[in-house]
Amino acid sequence: MGTSVKEVIKKLRADPDTVHQFEEAYGHPPDRSSLLDAIATYVQSLLTPGSRFDRWLGGDAAALSAEELNGYQLFKSLGCVSCHQGVNVGGNLFERHGIFHPLASPKPEILRVPSLRNVATTPPYFHDGSAPTLQEAVRQMGHAQLDQKLSDQQVDAIVGFLNTLTGTYRGSPVVAAPP
Ligand code: HEC
Repeated sequence: MGTSVKEVIKKLRADPDTVHQFEEAYGHPPDRSSLLDAIATYVQSLLTPGSRFDRWLGGDAAALSAEELNGYQLFKSLGCVSCHQGVNVGGNLFERHGIFHPLASPKPEILRVPSLRNVATTPPYFHDGSAPTLQEAVRQMGHAQLDQKLSDQQVDAIVGFLNTLTGTYRGSPVVAAPP
């Protein structure tokens, strides 16, 4: 991002909290190898396979209930997949939000489409945190991005599907961060 490792280390060393955290994790203040290790470890933590949806894709037909499967069908037929797509169910496009109706705070106008993996563990939703629940986020997405008024049953089915995207990290299910 237009900087250098040297410059980043200088900045990190100027922050006492960060220096303290590096000392706890690596036994010394930030340097080149601990910085690169910290970034690589963080990026690895973003890989959370083993969700029920992954198991279903892998051929385990019993991994999803009928309602969750219905939610997945709706997710495709309504057009959510046109933006939330690929191995991370999002994360690979930049899109306008509030296409048909306003969504969250209007700025910035263009956002990265978020990955929906583990989405059930990360309320509140949207870039300004304005949707407190997944139900609310799904309802608003349908209205703002697709001009669809979703019924309660449709919202519940899609939320059911999104709940199957919670994966595992180091062998344990991903859970919400402590408050
Ligand atoms: C035109 C592209 C587009 C379509 C279609 C779309 N989304 Fe989104 N979605 C986005 C963008 C962009 C955001 C980020 C909005 C924000 O942060 O303010 C988002 C955010 C979300 C979030 C909140 C994620 C978070 O962590 O905050 C959920 C849940 C979601 N979408 C589900 C859906 C569902 C379900 C549908 C179909 C009913 C759908 N989306 C259709 C682009 C789209």
